[in-house]
Amino acid sequence: MMKRVYFNDVVTRDGFQIEPNFIPTDDKVKLVDELSDCGFAKIEVTSFSSPKAIPMLKDAEEVMGRIKRVSGVEYTALVPNLRGAERAFESKADEFNLVMSTSETHNLANLRMGREKSFAGLAEVIKYVDGRTPINVSLSTCFGCPMEGEVSRDVVEGFAKRFADLGVRGLTICDTTGMANPEQVKKMCDSFQKQFPSLQLTLHFHNTRGMGLANILAAVQSGIIRFDGSLGGLGGCPYAPGASGNVSSEDAIHMLDAMGYETGINIPKLLQLAKELSQIVGHEVPGQVAKAGSTYTLHPEPSYVEELRRQQ
Ligand code: COA
Ligand code: ZN
Repeated sequence: MMKRVYFNDVVTRDGFQIEPNFIPTDDKVKLVDELSDCGFAKIEVTSFSSPKAIPMLKDAEEVMGRIKRVSGVEYTALVPNLRGAERAFESKADEFNLVMSTSETHNLANLRMGREKSFAGLAEVIKYVDGRTPINVSLSTCFGCPMEGEVSRDVVEGFAKRFADLGVRGLTICDTTGMANPEQVKKMCDSFQKQFPSLQLTLHFHNTRGMGLANILAAVQSGIIRFDGSLGGLGGCPYAPGASGNVSSEDAIHMLDAMGYETGINIPKLLQLAKELSQIVGHEVPGQVAKAGSTYTLHPEPSYVEELRRQQ
């Protein structure tokens, strides 16, 4: 039996937040609609962060209001604090993706407060939401912080446990700047699945050091079925030094499909969309499969091959 995996595309949030030039609202809405047509289980549409912190996503309300809602697709949004939750609520996000870092330094850099203050604020958000909307918590820098270095598994699991106790539906374990390696991923996934068997667990990798697909492989082989990816491999936290693109959705989906996993995605459509992305952002994007074509896209043989074949 084919095993089903579920992808959340984060290009219009994680992908766009680090882009230097403002991407017009029309382009964001159109891209989300096209991602819906590709068959993603979830799309992280935008972020209800402070528009001063993330000017690219200052049009969050308008984007949420204009996208087409396809049944079976969840439209989630990043929420850093209570103000963000109020805005996400008004915009009818299907899920609130709360965020904090497991590294004190990265939390201060990104959210301008310490971890305990973030946790208390997010606990307040969970109370305010009161079960009306499912909550996911993305924990940043779980595999290492670009400023502090190692973040201990005890710290990561400590925050995970505190959120699990508050009744969240899911947790996303984020490798914010691509520091994870497959062995570390396997250990983390085994431990999380054992400790939190009833939570939806998602893995979020950045391909900063070329380990993104290897880490996805390690996670899926440990039993993880939910992944974040970003079309074209765009992305990065503007407040994490050295951040670069997420693992490319199409490269990861192409790999898992070739291995026999059921992704639910229309891959030719996804590759076409990835090809068009460079026009939207105005530069080349890192994803590889959209450039190479899928393994099913064959090239014509050179003309001299037929001659050689006859001589054999
Ligand atoms: N949405 C809109 N405005 C917000 C807001 C939100 N979620 N949170 C705060 N603000 C506004 C406040 O109203 C206030 O506005 P004013 O200056 O006009 O009075 C201003 O922002 C400062 O508010 P404050 O509570 O002091 O926030 P802050 O400046 O300490 O910023 C965060 C805290 C969390 C809001 C901000 O750092 C942030 O949005 N970070 C998100 C970073 C992010 O998304 N990173 C990438 C994803 S990992
Ligand atoms: Zn990220």
